[in-house]
Amino acid sequence: MRIDIEDLAKTYDNGQPALHPLRLSLPSGALVALLGPSGSGKTTLLRLLGGLETPSAGQVRFDGVAATGLSVQERRAGFVFQHYALFRHMTVFENIAYGLRARPRRTRPARAEIDRRVHRLLALIRLPEIGPRYPAQLSGGQRQRVALARALAIEPRMLLLDEPFGALDAQVRKELRRSLRQIHEATGLTTLFVTHDQDEAMELADLVVVMSMGRIEQIGPPAEIRARPATAFVRAFLTA
Ligand SMILES: Nc1ncnc2c1ncn2[C@@H]1O[C@H](COP(=O)(O)OP(=O)(O)OP(=O)(O)O)[C@@H](O)[C@H]1O
Ligand SMILES: [Mg+2]
Repeated sequence: MRIDIEDLAKTYDNGQPALHPLRLSLPSGALVALLGPSGSGKTTLLRLLGGLETPSAGQVRFDGVAATGLSVQERRAGFVFQHYALFRHMTVFENIAYGLRARPRRTRPARAEIDRRVHRLLALIRLPEIGPRYPAQLSGGQRQRVALARALAIEPRMLLLDEPFGALDAQVRKELRRSLRQIHEATGLTTLFVTHDQDEAMELADLVVVMSMGRIEQIGPPAEIRARPATAFVRAFLTA
């Protein structure tokens, strides 16, 4: 799905603009990194796209259709957060199936279809055997993979990931980068992930959006941003 953002802005109750009006067009199927220091507005932008926050101004279009007024459910985003609490009292299988089982009967897939989908997703995250386990019986990296599978189960139109690997150690992060790349290739979903780790952004993304103080400093493929930083901020951020 193509995403067009037009003069989108957000000011929270404290009156400080978290996001100044910004424009951004993301082609369908892109793997996009939102890169920037703490407080630069990455999470705010992601939450606005997912419908978890209401913008103060501006428009969002999905495949050219106005989406600003759509609810979270209507937007059909798959979310993964840094500390995405899986339901502790549910098995991995039940966690992944949750979004499908929670649907009204009219749109809920049959039990056999839910089974098939969950098994397909467990294969996709390369953990085919862990369906019966509980979250407490998984490593941190495995939990985040299950969170990815859970986000994919509802057949989202886009994936929104906020520092999905932030709490993991360096080795596991690298493994999960490969998983995300592979999942992205398998699903073709337009995917935005937030990170303040430039290596992660550069290694994974087709398109990097560098943010600072609620503004976009530069948008481009990793090689271009490395070769031609557009602003003093980007240059300093990349060498930091
Ligand atoms: N619910 C809120 N109410 C008031 N201000 C907020 C709220 N959420 C975020 N902000 C402010 O908006 C600005 C952008 O925050 P945001 O969480 O989008 O940054 P971020 O880039 O995700 O930072 P981090 O890397 O620390 O997660 C910050 O100044 C923050 O304090
Ligand atoms: Mg954040």
